[in-house]
Amino acid sequence: MLALTVDPKKAGSLDVREVADPRPAAGELLVQGIAIGVCGTDREIAANDYGSAPPGKDRLILGHESLGRVVQAPPESGFAPGDLVAGVVRRPDPVPCGACAQGEFDMCRNGLYVERGIKDVDGFGSQLWTIEPSYAVKLDPSLGEVGMLMEPTSVVAKAWEQVELVGRRSWFDPKRVLVTGAGPIGLLAAMLGVQRGLDVHVLDLATSGPKPDAVAALGAEYHSSGIDSFIAKGRPDIVIEATGVSEVVIDAIGSTAAYGIVCLTGVSPGGRRISVDVGGANRSMVLENDAVVGSVNANLRHFAAAAESLRQADPTWLARLITQRISLNDFAQAFTHPDPDTDIKSIITL
Ligand code: BGC
Repeated sequence: MLALTVDPKKAGSLDVREVADPRPAAGELLVQGIAIGVCGTDREIAANDYGSAPPGKDRLILGHESLGRVVQAPPESGFAPGDLVAGVVRRPDPVPCGACAQGEFDMCRNGLYVERGIKDVDGFGSQLWTIEPSYAVKLDPSLGEVGMLMEPTSVVAKAWEQVELVGRRSWFDPKRVLVTGAGPIGLLAAMLGVQRGLDVHVLDLATSGPKPDAVAALGAEYHSSGIDSFIAKGRPDIVIEATGVSEVVIDAIGSTAAYGIVCLTGVSPGGRRISVDVGGANRSMVLENDAVVGSVNANLRHFAAAAESLRQADPTWLARLITQRISLNDFAQAFTHPDPDTDIKSIITL
């Protein structure tokens, strides 16, 4: 079979190669890969900035945003041939730490977790893949190709859960939400905010292309004129930060109403320095009981929440997020720098 593979230690090593078909271990499902989504993490791995191959191997099969169709399922697995599935990305560390022992592997404390297509274990960027039934998530068949959005939605479902847990430390009745960045994570975060009945605003630089319309179609409000003009009309109770851009992160932290919660979801490259009034930021955070929380990955609970959110969503709205479909042989097109105005999610069909 063909697979999209990379040597994470070598920039420019991303390539489609013939690899042996996987053989499902006892109890596992055999899945035909339909597509993978490409995100910033994949681009970092391809650029040799992140990720690692399975122990003893040079190359990693890339792809952690998956969509596939079950080909073979053991009886009693809860799955049947034909089921549409997505794979959970992370597996608990082998020790395991306290969090992993509780199934909260997204909160792993010792960093020894593995992630399919990212860290130490092959991903889903191949024409066939295998998976343990407990880490496969069944998708509503009507979702079709947009089921591809399952993994990023799980990341966003976790971010919303974090916001709600932090909010519940006192009386909490949020109304106004700001999402910074209208990429897939930002738009899905906005969708989950709208599903919660909140007044959602999305801030991005794009002034044309599909992003402003996608936000409007959701029933949220799009802003491209900067955070200052946005907060002049009212401060948000919640910010979901999905750009990872230093200035935006700092502005987001400084933008909230009293008891504000900022959830950081963007992974930024280190090394950039900007000048910040730490005293001023500290003062307003303390005097307003503000909170900033980082959020990464997703456990089985978040995948289940994501499956439900996708089931409730308008599939034609979800389809707007897939702006580029690329065949496996043309994979390189998905790894060029995305155009921030026109690109939302690129997928590679398998
Ligand atoms: C993935 C997460 C993963 C994180 C860090 C993200 O792109 O969506 O599942 O935990 O990268 O490796």
